[in-house]
Amino acid sequence: MEIFRTPAELQAYALSNKRAGRTIALVPTMGYLHAGHCSLIDIARQKADLVIVSIFVNPIQFGPSEDLDKYPRDFEHDAKLCTEHGADAVFAPEPGVMYAPDASTVVEEQKLSRPLCGARRPGHFRGVTTVVAKLFNLALPDYAVFGMKDAQQLLVIRRMVRDLNFPVEIVAAPLIREHSGLALSSRNAYLTADEKERAVILSRVLDAARPALIAGGVEAIPAVLEVMKHEIEKAGGRIDYVEALDASTLETPNAKTADLLVALAVYFGNTRLIDNTLVWVK
Ligand code: PAJ
Repeated sequence: MEIFRTPAELQAYALSNKRAGRTIALVPTMGYLHAGHCSLIDIARQKADLVIVSIFVNPIQFGPSEDLDKYPRDFEHDAKLCTEHGADAVFAPEPGVMYAPDASTVVEEQKLSRPLCGARRPGHFRGVTTVVAKLFNLALPDYAVFGMKDAQQLLVIRRMVRDLNFPVEIVAAPLIREHSGLALSSRNAYLTADEKERAVILSRVLDAARPALIAGGVEAIPAVLEVMKHEIEKAGGRIDYVEALDASTLETPNAKTADLLVALAVYFGNTRLIDNTLVWVK
């Protein structure tokens, strides 16, 4: 497996492989890989001749009071997992080589990135779309795989690809959970054993919401969200948001809404966890 540390190396590798007629699948990550990330690599492996995994803790998607400095890192273990799952190349640049000191260009999606995490983390999605656009220009992928764990991110990237005509197919990968139901996340590493147990409530309330929303439809949303919030608080979670939005527009659901995205962000201790589920209400 090749390891590239600079944008120029990755772009030269991608270009020569494209010219040789090979297809490329990209899996963008921030590292500290777990089974969720590995499932994305497995999907990429099925799709294309070459699989490139990027591992880059992207500074511009973190707010000033967020966890950039303490974000967990373990390159050796990440590289081992990439090899085991059949990746052909890993791109792991330092921030200094990704952004010129006087970089002054960004990519910003202006609608789907506004609610949910966008409202609580100003600039976050601008940082994500900017780095993903750069990664697309470097890895020249035919396919790029993103997890449903970050459902809003997936929608924002799809919109960016459509609006800016990136020649890449976005592939959605299912959300992978622990046996307990807890969604796998690199940030789970911050949780104490006690917090981890209590955080299981997040998948439980999402599971319980599904039948209630299928039965009651859009009118049932306020009552369902109240129950969810109550249960989360009872388990010691501090709610950032618990919302149900139209899954294609991320607007307030209305009579025409067919799919709901029920999404939440909740703190256990200092750790902010996100989770979601899709519900077909029509
Ligand atoms: P990161 O949080 O490392 O996630 C990388 C990819 O793995 C994302 O597409 C995410 O949705 C997916 N993923 C994480 N946990 C998952 C799980 N439990 N099940 C399925 N997929 C999961 O998301 C980012 O990095 C960054 O914002 C990035 C897109 C790399 C841009 O910097």
